Amino acid sequence: MSFLSKSLSRVKPSPTIAVSTMAAELKAAGRDVIGLGAGEPDFDTPENIKAAGAKAIADGKTKYTAPDGIIELKRAICEKFERENNLTYTTDQVSVGTGGKQILYNALVATMNPGDEVIIPAPYWVSYPDMVLLAGGTPVIAEASLQTGFKLTADQLEAAITPKTKWLIFNSPSNPTGAGYSREELKELTDVLLRHPHVWVMTDDMYEHLAYGDFKFCTPAEVEPKLYDRTLTCNGVSKAYSMTGWRIGYAAGPKELIGAMRKIQSQSTSNPSSISQWAAVEALNGPQDFLKTNNEMFVRRRDLVVSMLNDAEGIVCPTPDGAFYVYPSVAECIGKTSAKGVKIENDEVFATALLEEKGVAVVFGAAFGLSPNFRVSYATSDEALKEACSRIQDFCAELK
Ligand SMILES: Cc1ncc(COP(=O)(O)O)c(C=O)c1O
Repeated sequence: MSFLSKSLSRVKPSPTIAVSTMAAELKAAGRDVIGLGAGEPDFDTPENIKAAGAKAIADGKTKYTAPDGIIELKRAICEKFERENNLTYTTDQVSVGTGGKQILYNALVATMNPGDEVIIPAPYWVSYPDMVLLAGGTPVIAEASLQTGFKLTADQLEAAITPKTKWLIFNSPSNPTGAGYSREELKELTDVLLRHPHVWVMTDDMYEHLAYGDFKFCTPAEVEPKLYDRTLTCNGVSKAYSMTGWRIGYAAGPKELIGAMRKIQSQSTSNPSSISQWAAVEALNGPQDFLKTNNEMFVRRRDLVVSMLNDAEGIVCPTPDGAFYVYPSVAECIGKTSAKGVKIENDEVFATALLEEKGVAVVFGAAFGLSPNFRVSYATSDEALKEACSRIQDFCAELK
């Protein structure tokens, strides 16, 4: 019998981290590799935020804090929800954790009993199903398609709900597709939830600020106020504020749930870094104008990547509304053979052959629950994107 827990055997290591590791190994071996796998902006953390972190150190704000966050940050979070989302929360309805990841995980650990089901629309962020499994629940995957812009329809949601459903995990704009739900599309889903009062929504709004063109971000409790009492609204500073390494995420929701999450955190990791919390206060309260500048850059890169990928033989790449990912289909490449003789049986083989033959690292679609596709993160320089897309075009042109 293994010394390790049974629940661990149900969980797989993060495929996105596996791709970065493989790319790093090839690079270390002297290969010219372009990584399009990273889920983080290539921009530096804004200076005012870094200065707030440095000041916290200089001021000696380097001790334990309340396990789920300092009151100053909770106030800044309540103000953010009021200002940007029309949602009113009090500080005892807010939890701050070590990244959005810990917040989502705490909420699942706090609520899962054996047999409880969690609906996860696919394509999904890689960690959702494994977090549900680790917390002792059962993921129920509801597959969206390219035809609906990778968005779950009301009928699909209705069909996935059972008496055992506890949560719907909702993520817009989405990792890995960049798809964003309009207010009307989200309303169709919240209407379904109104008919099933036992189902709660865990909304992961991590990419809220990375929304482009005419697309307007919206969040479930704002679109349907009747869901307020059964919604956990999760967010964080990692992506929009280029603070992935600082590790601050947060959520607001019903007091009982927030209290349970606090209990878990107080008996596991305790507070997120005090220094990062002060930096996050500045991120939320400080100037926001750099977001617009960053988004202009992201839109330019998105358009470059979408256009170059659509010019590659056998690739179909929709234009997403937000985040910094595209999720092209390689359906027409399946069954062909690469220049080095690899038969492209599925998207994992496509991604591996692309890395080995052209030195471009992308993440295969099966990792996100919808094939045959791959995910490109365009949070990297224009030059790297141009070179990578041109290599993808060559790779596809050589397929026979
Ligand atoms: C959809 C989504 N949710 C949550 C997270 C986790 O964010 P954090 O780095 O704050 O833990 C990520 C990070 O990749 C993400 O893409």
